[in-house]
Amino acid sequence: MKEETFKRCVYIILFILIMIVFTKDINFFGTNFYEDIKPIEHPESIQVLVNKNNQLAMDYIPSDLEQISLNYAIEGQYLKKEAKEKFEQLSKDASELGYQIIASSTYRSYAYQSQLYEYYIKTKGLEYADLCSARPGHSEHQTGLAVDVMGSNHDYDQFELSVEFPWMKENAYQYGFILRYPKGKENITGFKYEPWHYRYVGVELAKLLYENNWTLDEYYQEHHI
Ligand code: DAL
Ligand code: ZN
Repeated sequence: MKEETFKRCVYIILFILIMIVFTKDINFFGTNFYEDIKPIEHPESIQVLVNKNNQLAMDYIPSDLEQISLNYAIEGQYLKKEAKEKFEQLSKDASELGYQIIASSTYRSYAYQSQLYEYYIKTKGLEYADLCSARPGHSEHQTGLAVDVMGSNHDYDQFELSVEFPWMKENAYQYGFILRYPKGKENITGFKYEPWHYRYVGVELAKLLYENNWTLDEYYQEHHI
């Protein structure tokens, strides 16, 4: 093959590869989001991994949901018993330091998550919806282990600007909660940075994740034995 022809072939192959990368939304870290979806086998586990590739059954409802005291939540917020007790302790300790940490969205049913996701699609379009709302069955809120919080500025969306945020970020792990969708890890979690969304995983695992700056997804992909 002539040198000129060889070069042309290399350019064409490179061009095709670049086009594939730009059009396929490839996640270099692991599997593509919402492809190769696995059903979750142990949804009651405190350490359960729910993400874009691990799906809860449509009819899954946690067995031990309990309502959070209105001292620490808006009306009608439920978490699994262990997560609820730890959240109340966290919020109580924070209040003794002058902070207000209030649960504003906790357990959500499959049906309710469907409505939320559809609402985001209608108002913001599919691409944006997929960055900020999980598809039904893929939301941690269905486990009863996730909590969206607001601070004394009473707006979960503005939690990062509240005086409570720095405290929550550095102390939540001591109660078993992790910041689940951190800044800079969007290509791993598949979601936009959410300073308000915390996930109960138990104190031991939360400490490990916090100290190593791992997301729950990284823990399962790289470090879980
Ligand atoms: N906003 C989070 C990702 C959810 O919908 O569960
Ligand atoms: Zn959330």
